[in-house]
Amino acid sequence: MNAHEDTYKPSGPVSKWFDERLPIMRMMHGQFVDFPTPRNLNYLWTFGGILVFCLVTQIVTGIILAMHYVPHAEHAFDSVQHIKRNVNYGWMIQSMHAVGASMFFIAVYIHMFRGLYYGSYKAPREVLWILGVLILLVMMATGFLGYTLPWGQMSFWGVTVITNLFSSLDEIIPGLGTAVVTWLWGGYSVTGTTLNRFFSLHYLLPFVIFGLVVLHVWALHVVGQNNPTGIEVKTKSDTVPMSPFAIMKDLFALAVFLILFSWFVFFAPDYLGHADNYIPANALVTPAHIVPEWYFLPFYAILRAIPSKLGGVIAMFSAIVVLVFIPWLDTSRVRSTKYRPIYRWFFWLFVFTCLALGYLGSRPAEGAYVLWAQIFTFYYFAHFLLVMPIVGLIETPKQMPGSITEAVLGKNAGGGGAVPEGFAAPAEKH
Ligand code: HEM
Repeated sequence: MNAHEDTYKPSGPVSKWFDERLPIMRMMHGQFVDFPTPRNLNYLWTFGGILVFCLVTQIVTGIILAMHYVPHAEHAFDSVQHIKRNVNYGWMIQSMHAVGASMFFIAVYIHMFRGLYYGSYKAPREVLWILGVLILLVMMATGFLGYTLPWGQMSFWGVTVITNLFSSLDEIIPGLGTAVVTWLWGGYSVTGTTLNRFFSLHYLLPFVIFGLVVLHVWALHVVGQNNPTGIEVKTKSDTVPMSPFAIMKDLFALAVFLILFSWFVFFAPDYLGHADNYIPANALVTPAHIVPEWYFLPFYAILRAIPSKLGGVIAMFSAIVVLVFIPWLDTSRVRSTKYRPIYRWFFWLFVFTCLALGYLGSRPAEGAYVLWAQIFTFYYFAHFLLVMPIVGLIETPKQMPGSITEAVLGKNAGGGGAVPEGFAAPAEKH
């Protein structure tokens, strides 16, 4: 872990006795109170803490829901209605969990775009970033499995469409895809058996996410936080202790986030869901448009943009896997997009592309929608595979401050030089 002065003082004889046997409080103090945090972090750096809050909220509300939910094809839909109508505060717990899933994804996407903008994936934070991509994958699996549980029309048909994607493996080895789908379903169609195993996995995966988050935060505390300038911490004056400075900022941001969260929970609990999920699952009636939850829409658009089924599935999974490689695809000498005059245009084009794909994923796969989805899918991959490597090589970064302290206090605070030592990610120093 990042070495810094240990200021922990046990408050009394009991804590001293305990500290000499298991210094866990010393460790927590060192990592979450004393820990040196760059002094220039903006509010985008509060989303990591917000995400921890979201994860804990999902686990706590989920455990309470599981006390009343029945994972059976005949009872699942009714058991959710029972929770909402009869269980004390069940309406609130259910709404916190369903809205909480969307809030979790809003926060994680902001957290990721922050990382992309400020180059937080670049050396030495590659492992931290890759752990993040793994967390995203498991979060997506958890969200998908959870959406099955209310056993409404969108639950049922969403599972049917998405699990059926694996049948495209038949194009590689005949019979393989069909076998995988039958194995996933536990039968020859989506049934109560499928529902029961999805419930089991939906309960398990958040704890896997929890384990990955521990590794993610551990990796962060080994290399230290990046910051809006992308310049590494050089002296003690570049940092402030995590508590109270970063912690207070995190708590303020969390309070603002909770206002939005509460607004949805208390005033628009169904706004982020789909009306068809209030119709109990019916294997004989297919909804006119099957759409996943909003946070999957960009990936759904990529899936449907490719004319071949197997190609679509490969493109959809590649859209996430490609993120693993960006620490090496980005050839820029500087981390922060703030100092990248050319790349910043492409960054915002990429943000627009993701929003456009999200919109197109919600539209029927026909006519101009498909063509636009193909154009934006092309740019999605071109951004990582062409723009990141090429722009990094040809661009001249803007004048940078000499240090984090100088970025905050101005030139007289020390440091200097247009391209100071330490601004670059070690691997890319030229
Ligand atoms: C459950 C989900 C997640 C949790 C609880 C979580 C938690 C955290 C926390 C507490 C921090 C430090 C505070 C901050 O910088 O905001 C952090 C930093 C970071 N996270 Fe995450 N994270 C999650 C998902 C992700 C994902 C999906 C990615 C990327 C694919 C990611 C990439 C990063 C990076 C690169 C940093 C370092 C940022 C910097 O110092 O500039 N995280 N995360």
